[in-house]
Amino acid sequence: MTRVKIDVTGAGIAVRCEACGGSLDERTSYVACPTCGALLEVVQTPPTARGRALQARFDDRLGVDALRGSAAARSGVWRYRELVLPNAGEAIASHPEGNTPLLERASITRFAGVESLGLKHEGHNPTGSFKDRGMTVAVTQARRIGASAVACASTGNTSASLAAYAAQAGIPALVLVPAGLVALGKLAQTIAYGARTLLVRGDFDDCLRLVREAADRLGVYLANSVNPFRIEGQKTIVFELLQQLGWEAPDWIALPAGNLGNTAAFGKALREAHELGLIARVPRLAAVQASGAAPFARAFAERFTTRHRVRAETVASAIRIGDPASWDRAVEAIRYTKGIVVAVDDEDIMEAKATIDASGVGCEPASAASVAGVRALVSRGEIAVGERVVAVLTGHVLKDPETLIREVGRDGSGSRWSRPIEIDAELAAVEEVLRASA
Ligand code: F0G
Repeated sequence: MTRVKIDVTGAGIAVRCEACGGSLDERTSYVACPTCGALLEVVQTPPTARGRALQARFDDRLGVDALRGSAAARSGVWRYRELVLPNAGEAIASHPEGNTPLLERASITRFAGVESLGLKHEGHNPTGSFKDRGMTVAVTQARRIGASAVACASTGNTSASLAAYAAQAGIPALVLVPAGLVALGKLAQTIAYGARTLLVRGDFDDCLRLVREAADRLGVYLANSVNPFRIEGQKTIVFELLQQLGWEAPDWIALPAGNLGNTAAFGKALREAHELGLIARVPRLAAVQASGAAPFARAFAERFTTRHRVRAETVASAIRIGDPASWDRAVEAIRYTKGIVVAVDDEDIMEAKATIDASGVGCEPASAASVAGVRALVSRGEIAVGERVVAVLTGHVLKDPETLIREVGRDGSGSRWSRPIEIDAELAAVEEVLRASA
């Protein structure tokens, strides 16, 4: 296997406090400012190459090393390493991840009501969600600082991802999830990959508060998206979709929004891509929340004058979050991209999911929020029919089997999916079913 060539001329990072401006060493174990407590941010020293030269460099990396090089050379995160963590070198813990497809399905495009809809399917990542893109970077950083353990709070995908990457890096992982509120696939993965799993009697917001305290007091490295290195990895969803579009920016990028780490990452990615000349103009972000967990959408409608907190409830358990942690960064992302935040009902989310599932693509409920959001914004006239839209599908269809099975089992004709039929092991029974459904 060939090693990744560390060709990051001029690139580097600084870690800085977003509020007081204090700076920390690149190998810091802090994820919040030790002076004022605000979130930290990674500030990139850009590579010397820009514009077409930088595009060409990223395009050139899609050669044979992208198929048979080291994990980092094959990764759709580390392909952009000079914009992620330029000096990680040998410490990189990569599955690999990324390289997710940009799909198009006529039935979903029609459902959304636009002429062009790309689906960036992050469910194709190794643990089935976009979290792997941030986690490869956070766990790489955990290795660089010699962390003795890593921890996170989660609605399920972050914990599955952390468990997998921690296992690869040989670092013990502690995860806190809300008892009874995590989809089965995610819980099973987290346990399978060997994380110490705590089922907290409370919701996600309780878990996050608790794990932040625990990380502070117990000296474990926090891997939630408040960790600035997670954000650097998640930016590559945007870099990769732009590269897939030949560096021609779409008009809109729609994504589900919960704890707002991804919204923040997308804003940072677009700012950097534009400043580096990778794209000529900045797409608008459409951040989509579930109506029962929509403090950010409510604040958007009030021009972000107030930070809201709610007790969250939605079928989309991944985004059942009432007090999002990356609030300020996400406000900045929406403002910078002239974006929109919208809330959609659970019914609309499930209708979008049914359409995505029936096309053979499939996704978990929270992911379908992005397509439901596009449809809502088209019907409100915010997105024009002729605009080019990319919707991010954040998680795999297998993540949440119970929600689907529950829907299918609902009494009456309510189900949008066809209900399985139990039969005797006889040809006549098969024939009868075929006749009835003809
Ligand atoms: N979609 C899925 C499938 C998710 O798992 C999440 C977040 C989001 C969207 C929202 O992203 O929080 O960055 O706004 N899941 C976290 C978790 C909270 O613990 O797995 P966000």
